[in-house]
Amino acid sequence: MRVMGRQNRGGGTTLRPRATPQPGDVIMTEKLVTIFGGSGFIGRYLVRRLAAEGWRVRVAVRDVERAAFLRPAGDVGQIAITPVSVSDAAGVAAAVAGADAVVNLVGILFERGKRTFQAIHVDGATNVAKAAAAAGVKRYVHMSALGADQNSPSAYARSKDAGEMAVRAALPAATIFRPSVVFGTEDGFFNLFGWMAQVFPAITFFTNTNPHTPSGDGPKFQPVYVGDVVEAIAQSLTGVGHAGKIYELAGPRVYDMREIMHIVNRETRRDRWIIGLPFLIAEIAALFLQFMPKPLLTPDQVKQLRQGNVATSRRPGLAVFGITPTTLEVVVPTYLKRFRPLQQNKRLRLQAR
Ligand SMILES: NC(=O)c1ccc[n+]([C@@H]2O[C@H](COP(=O)([O-])OP(=O)(O)OC[C@H]3O[C@@H](n4cnc5c(N)ncnc54)[C@H](OP(=O)(O)O)[C@@H]3O)[C@@H](O)[C@H]2O)c1
Repeated sequence: MRVMGRQNRGGGTTLRPRATPQPGDVIMTEKLVTIFGGSGFIGRYLVRRLAAEGWRVRVAVRDVERAAFLRPAGDVGQIAITPVSVSDAAGVAAAVAGADAVVNLVGILFERGKRTFQAIHVDGATNVAKAAAAAGVKRYVHMSALGADQNSPSAYARSKDAGEMAVRAALPAATIFRPSVVFGTEDGFFNLFGWMAQVFPAITFFTNTNPHTPSGDGPKFQPVYVGDVVEAIAQSLTGVGHAGKIYELAGPRVYDMREIMHIVNRETRRDRWIIGLPFLIAEIAALFLQFMPKPLLTPDQVKQLRQGNVATSRRPGLAVFGITPTTLEVVVPTYLKRFRPLQQNKRLRLQAR
């Protein structure tokens, strides 16, 4: 009988890649990480990454069924899914009990009813950090966002800043990550534009200046690959020197919106018109679009868009973790191809035969 243990001589545990379990294996206690928001876009990559490294993973989300797809990412019993809202302090305390590490990935892009930025990004984040502090959790990661700023015109960005401060107050050793727009197969950014290219004859972006001038190419972004983001988080859970740090996570290049639209056009093989519109139109459109069940645009998002999303040079980033940022030209084509005309995909398949 093999024992899949990670106990080291000092009585602590070490982490190493998971071996394939064999019949009769006994899984010894691993380090336990609780991931709030583990079923989301970034969370699913982190769950898989940490499970592969040998962590026991407790995924804390509201909708357990929607998170069930994560179970096969680990050995039997390695991934547990627990129903909890970050707004429920008692539930949060139960979810972090016994954990060696906690990661809070919960965030929202628009407010709805009681799910306000204050409730989720500040009060919820406070609940999680306080519970982790009370439970003596050794490693703590809080997910913020690039552009978190108490003076931002955007309520989202102000709440991300307030959340960081609340987490810091409860748990000074917390490690905080501020990613730029994150790209990957399930992202909400490139997929949205890919869908627009599929459905509409033109794809539009918004700009503060005349779109027909060289400076009118829209706000700038520095998209970062989801795999690089989770690699940094994973390393911060075991490495040294990350306590109390704030990291900005951004990709290797800055793009303006017109360039991003060209990439979308090229990878969807759609050749749509690319139209730059003044932000005034975005503001008017957002007044109506904000009432959609999952809004395409809200007035607060327009304020964020105006700012762009580029790393400052004031904070360390992926280089600290020895990560060379992945370029989006390598990854984005792999999932934007689903928006290509059917004929295109058929032809590609035939060519591949
Ligand atoms: N994606 C990006 O481009 C990007 C960029 C910058 C920063 N960020 C930040 O990174 C974090 C993760 O982003 P993401 O894109 O992965 O988000 P996401 O896909 O929207 O996932 C959110 C996750 O949080 C859970 N959740 C929502 N409300 C909850 C609550 N009240 N209690 C417990 N769990 C709750 C959701 O599951 P249930 O609905 O089942 O609860 C889901 O697992 C967020 O803080 C976000 O602000 C993301």
